[in-house]
Amino acid sequence: MYLQIENLQKSYGKDESFIRVLKGVSTGVERGQMCVIQGTSGSGKSTLLNCVGGLDTIDSGSVKVDGKEIFGLKPAQLSDYRRDNLGFIFQFYNLVPNLTVKENILICKHIAENPLDLDDLLETLGLTEHQNKFPAQLSGGQQQRCAIARALIKNPKLLLCDEPTGALDSSTSRDILVLLEEINRKYNTTMLIVTHNNSIKNMVHKVIRLKDGMIREEYENAVRVPAAELEDL
Ligand SMILES: Nc1ncnc2c1ncn2[C@@H]1O[C@H](COP(=O)(O)OP(=O)(O)O)[C@@H](O)[C@H]1O
Ligand SMILES: [Mg+2]
Repeated sequence: MYLQIENLQKSYGKDESFIRVLKGVSTGVERGQMCVIQGTSGSGKSTLLNCVGGLDTIDSGSVKVDGKEIFGLKPAQLSDYRRDNLGFIFQFYNLVPNLTVKENILICKHIAENPLDLDDLLETLGLTEHQNKFPAQLSGGQQQRCAIARALIKNPKLLLCDEPTGALDSSTSRDILVLLEEINRKYNTTMLIVTHNNSIKNMVHKVIRLKDGMIREEYENAVRVPAAELEDL
């Protein structure tokens, strides 16, 4: 199992503001699997992603990525873990506004051990002709493709996506999902994708549904629908 989560608990605040968010989550994802995390707003999806991504500390339990335990790592070790293993994509692209597309991507290339080829990646993502533009000169879909390129240039083994199509119209969402599918196939990247959209679950290998900080349902798809054929995006 590439990602193994055991009895993960996470709470925030104290006294009156204390809130238990993850109440003992156990699950696993195989290397190369695309996995969707579903659940209503507030069910703990982002918290789960942030715990796996080392952006947030864990109260108790275990999160192992490629056999390495994340729980208990010091901030500097967590930072190494993120640098060496992870790519992040968020709903809002978080690009650096005064850097070009190419420069936004290159920032992350510098910290990578085995980066992908920039020109190849720009080509795969359809960004070659936009590489010298600034984020404000791009459409939402192009900005998200730039954010994806920035996450992927490191060739991360694990890609964490929090509502990657949340701000996009349905046709642009489809383009982005087709890209994620292609990347999964090409680089065998393991992916955790948090989404509100009920259709995306049909294109992935595995689905986890959270309710009130617990896993309500999890299953693997026997048959997957290609992203290009998804309905109701
Ligand atoms: N940094 C934080 N401090 C306090 N409460 C938080 C924090 N992050 C999330 N929460 C709370 O945890 C719960 C789950 O949030 P979240 O994981 O963002 O849910 P989802 O992504 O499923 O909508 C919510 O009640 C939210 O208010
Ligand atoms: Mg969220």
